[in-house]
Amino acid sequence: MGLGNAEIEFACGKRMKNRFMLAPLTNCQSNADGTLSDDEFNWLTLRAKGDFGLTMTCAAHVQATGQGFPGQLGIFSDDHLAGHRRLAAAIKSQDSLAVAQLHHAGMRSPAELIATTPVCPSADEETGSRALTLEEVKQLRDDFIAAALRAQQAGYDGVEIHGAHGYVLCQFLSELYNRREDEYGGSLENRARILFEIVGGVRQACGSDFLLGVRLSPERFGIRLAEALSVCEQLIAGGEVDFLDISLWDSFKLPEEEAYQGTSLLSHFANLPRGNVLLTVAGKIMTAEQVRDVLTADVDFVTIGRGAILHHDFPRRVMNDDQFEPTSLPVSRAHLAAEGLSDTFIEYMNGWKGFVAD
Ligand SMILES: Cc1cc2nc3c(=O)[nH]c(=O)nc-3n(C[C@H](O)[C@H](O)[C@H](O)COP(=O)(O)O)c2cc1C
Repeated sequence: MGLGNAEIEFACGKRMKNRFMLAPLTNCQSNADGTLSDDEFNWLTLRAKGDFGLTMTCAAHVQATGQGFPGQLGIFSDDHLAGHRRLAAAIKSQDSLAVAQLHHAGMRSPAELIATTPVCPSADEETGSRALTLEEVKQLRDDFIAAALRAQQAGYDGVEIHGAHGYVLCQFLSELYNRREDEYGGSLENRARILFEIVGGVRQACGSDFLLGVRLSPERFGIRLAEALSVCEQLIAGGEVDFLDISLWDSFKLPEEEAYQGTSLLSHFANLPRGNVLLTVAGKIMTAEQVRDVLTADVDFVTIGRGAILHHDFPRRVMNDDQFEPTSLPVSRAHLAAEGLSDTFIEYMNGWKGFVAD
């Protein structure tokens, strides 16, 4: 049997045909109103054809004011439904699970893009963001839940709640950005409240057979490792999520906090007793050997970002060749075009240092 080829079943009952998930990857290819474009459809469905057992959309914003990037895919309006229906059906037709990532950029929304003042748990001088009112916090929660329902209506197998990378839910979790004095700020319990309310609300609205994941990132943006681990423990104890997706950026690094440096950052998450909640991690998993190393470190499935941009059929290549190594970086524009990226996406990748050859 090939590396990573074994099927896996989530607590909700959905089955994934192998151990490869396509990372959520912003690609700026959607139409200006957030509707799906053919370019985005082609890029993603090619990954499903390349044997990803789970194909995740890019971050899709749940409110117009939560847009973080030009050309971002929207999921805040029923006007987006037709595109999502088409995308989810095409992904599923390849025997890949179709999952939408739900996102709100909060203070990281560029004001000129959203044509209003960005919002944050607490006012932030650096970005010029204003604090959400209590009513708006509840609306934000409800809009995440409404977007999950919309995803379900569109035919997706599930959703992933984006609680990582300094976007709005991460801003709530962060002591650095959340200085609220109501029930959504202060203690970790309060800072995590909106995330838990969204998780509970999605589970209730979408039912027990809907796939539900949460993405978190430790370190950076004021997220201390102990707090990230504690949130994971509580998500596991709550029994409402199917998987945790931990974005490490480097799956082989040591923690930055000295007290935790005895073992790798990954192992702190892999060592949590996790019941029937599955664990995936993302970050520099580029070769077959690295896939093997992560899977043997007691991670249930791998999440592949840049490797999947380089090779739409990364899973198939690894399953067929346990010595597989991707093409070396930087890579030509012609290579990326042949791998299904439009000029817009290639230009976006050009902003990632060392990725695209001049
Ligand atoms: C071009 C690009 C776009 C990304 N967009 C998203 C996104 O929409 N949502 C998200 O949670 N992470 C996003 N990430 C992070 C990836 O999902 C992944 O965690 C990260 O790239 C590390 O994996 P890799 O080393 O395999 O690329 C993005 C990364 C890249 C390179």
